[in-house]
Amino acid sequence: MFAVSPDPVRIQDESAARARISELIQRIHEADYAYYVLDAPVVDDATYDGWMRELRALEEAFPGLVRPDSPTQRVPGAPVEAFAKVTHLDPLLSLGNCTSEEELRRFDQRVRSLLGHPTSYHCEPKFDGLSIALVYRDGQLVVAATRGDGTTGEDVTANVRTIRSIPIVLRGQAPPVLQVRGEVIMERAAFLALNEALIAAGETPKANPRNAAAGSLRQLDPRITASRPLRFFAYSAYAPGGLPVATQAELIAVLRAWGFPTSPYNRLVPDVDAALAYIREMQEVRHSWPFDTDGVVIKVNGLADQAELGVVGREPRWAIAYKYPSEEAYTLLKNIVVQVGRTGVLTPVAELEPVSVGGVLVSRATLHNAREVARKDLRIGDTVVVRRAGEVIPEIVTAVVERRPPDARPWTMPSTCPSCGAPVRQVDDEVAVRCSNRPSRCPAQLAQNIEHFASRDCMNIEGLGPAVIETLLTHGLIRSPADLYRLTREQLIPLPRFGERSADRLLASIAASRSAELARVIDALGIPQVGHETAQILARTFGSLDRLAAASEAELAALEGIGPSVSASIRAFFQDPDNQALVSDLLALGIGCAAAAGSAAGENARLAGLTFVITGTLSRPRRYYEELIERAGGRVSDAVTSKVNYLVRGETPGSKLAKAEKLGIPILDEAGLLALLGAA
Ligand code: IVH
Repeated sequence: MFAVSPDPVRIQDESAARARISELIQRIHEADYAYYVLDAPVVDDATYDGWMRELRALEEAFPGLVRPDSPTQRVPGAPVEAFAKVTHLDPLLSLGNCTSEEELRRFDQRVRSLLGHPTSYHCEPKFDGLSIALVYRDGQLVVAATRGDGTTGEDVTANVRTIRSIPIVLRGQAPPVLQVRGEVIMERAAFLALNEALIAAGETPKANPRNAAAGSLRQLDPRITASRPLRFFAYSAYAPGGLPVATQAELIAVLRAWGFPTSPYNRLVPDVDAALAYIREMQEVRHSWPFDTDGVVIKVNGLADQAELGVVGREPRWAIAYKYPSEEAYTLLKNIVVQVGRTGVLTPVAELEPVSVGGVLVSRATLHNAREVARKDLRIGDTVVVRRAGEVIPEIVTAVVERRPPDARPWTMPSTCPSCGAPVRQVDDEVAVRCSNRPSRCPAQLAQNIEHFASRDCMNIEGLGPAVIETLLTHGLIRSPADLYRLTREQLIPLPRFGERSADRLLASIAASRSAELARVIDALGIPQVGHETAQILARTFGSLDRLAAASEAELAALEGIGPSVSASIRAFFQDPDNQALVSDLLALGIGCAAAAGSAAGENARLAGLTFVITGTLSRPRRYYEELIERAGGRVSDAVTSKVNYLVRGETPGSKLAKAEKLGIPILDEAGLLALLGAA
């Protein structure tokens, strides 16, 4: 760290000012280098800002001392009418590309046969931005130009000077004339923020970070460029007198030493197999980078080898781009439908003409909320750009307005819930709108509540997925999660997709869920703002559902880890008459009550509260199974009554089987019992 700056107003004489200016410029350049190139900041923002303020003050007091390499000279100049044309010192070549292993192997074979010897390769991410050439004379940035047609480009020097990661003076001993080529990019986060700002200002948002970077650099007003967070990575160079290095890997190292940011993901590999391994590795890793890449560039490492291989047309024979499958595609926005979530939030969802994006077929994409649809100005019938980035769910980037058909229809959020018809309401300070109906009265909310109830982290009822829930709801067999525990074989067997076995299996897992720990039961209720962790705190504190339901808001808020908003939400939940009915229903079933919760605390309580009857011959003595059941907290009875939860059947079952079937009691075979016990 550096010493505290002396007070600038005290510097009166020019030579002291000159010395201090020089010192400040030096420090700021060092700090920039540490930050932008080494990615290891050496000063805090306040110190840095202090140096900049002091430097500006000195330059104001002594205008004759303003140096062209001063960081204050990054301030944007006046707008220009048009960009001047610049002829590049060395043409900016483009790259041939390939998309498969075979093609890359063919490239490698050609390289090796032309050279007559094997070669190592320098592998680099292929940045998806805008290629520029920077010309330095005696270490000072003099011209920056876009690629243009490769021979001449546009002079964007004034704009480029505002990009902080591009050095305006070089460090060390760089060649007297040097042309450095690299990519100007915008990070994804900055791109999203820019689009927000553009929309707020009523302007058209950019389609992707590359367009945003290009648009930001090709601004006639450098002040606009200065306001855009652009980054730069260098990847090649040319010096009329030759470069002081022999390989691409050394070139990257010396570019860094001269002050240029280079990619930390470059790698020198011994052969094409290792290059292919790099390609595979980067295909996944690249999604964690803050910027977009669309492939990998593979370059023959030796510069003499590069020269020998030469250029055909505009493409070097010593480098090739391996392009990853495009993760953006055009398709038709067929419709916008509205989904109602568990908490009643209405979400617009795009229905798309199925399209392959980065190798995955996409036919739906969430549109988040009405504001997003308006922001993107999407109309039904539009051609849209769909993007998938890594694991991220597909999203619609933009509508292609030029292709909009005259009959494209704008979309608005419905004023009533598409599931139950109740009016929707806007919740204060939320973007979302919600169905105003109670969850238990809105089929969509109810279906998702039950799905949540049955989910693996809650009651863990296997075989109760969305399709089965839908069937049970449409046949009027359930109206609340508690109804699940009243289902019978007779009700299930005639349903579509059900048979005897699947009915028994579902009933078995429903019954097994009765002994779920209290925390799971609380989580399963779906109380807004109460997730797994809060549910555990509540279970530990109250020990049963009825005690939790009776807790006052003050009691709840006093708990560690539970804030006022969560406690209010819990209170509101238990005040709702439908929820009160659900809680007493569950308690009557023995779910969430103190006894069940207590006995279920140990690992031997899987069958707590369950009654079994065994009939027929099993592979082991009956006593063996009776003990297993009892040790797991269950009870074995002799008589088949409606209170019995399971009948376990062995070979040659007796009349008990028929009776159990009549009563709709789920039947287990030995394997089923072991599964229930967690032993199979
Ligand atoms: S080398 C002769 N290296 O890809 C060498 N290009 O499709 C020419 N690009 O116009 C370029 N990352 O804009 C090179 N690490 C990298 C690159 C890279 C991105 C861009 C560059 C070029 C385009 C060719």
